[in-house]
Amino acid sequence: MIYIGSDHAGYELKNEVIKHLEELGLEYRNFGSVNGESVDYPDVAEEVCTALLAGNEGDKAILVCGTGIGISIAANKIKGIRAALCTDCYTAKYTRYHNNANTLCMGGRVIGAGLACEIVDAFLGAKFEGGRHQRRVDKITALENR
Ligand code: RB5
Repeated sequence: MIYIGSDHAGYELKNEVIKHLEELGLEYRNFGSVNGESVDYPDVAEEVCTALLAGNEGDKAILVCGTGIGISIAANKIKGIRAALCTDCYTAKYTRYHNNANTLCMGGRVIGAGLACEIVDAFLGAKFEGGRHQRRVDKITALENR
């Protein structure tokens, strides 16, 4: 399951990504701005990440705001969320390989639909490598409790 949400600034890109998820036959739940109306990105991050954490192992979230920055900052305040703002396919893959990121963030005012969909494919297609990276991810988790 993919939990996808955006504010107004990410609304158009979110819809393009949703079309892509539908083409791929992936299940998704849509959050945040539903008609392009203004919503605050921290509220969207909270809703989407709450759904993700209540979901199943392997579920992922996709968050879109204008820059992708605000919504990623908000998401990363939530325990259990490892949100990565990506503007290219390399970082989208490696944040899965090395950081076990469970949330992909993108900027609707920054990248176009074609690149965004390739980033989504790279993110969803890559698996966490574990090993030494698990130790480092565990240290990130420990930071949540300081
Ligand atoms: C909304 O205007 C904009 O500030 C928001 O989408 C995002 O870019 C914040 O980081």
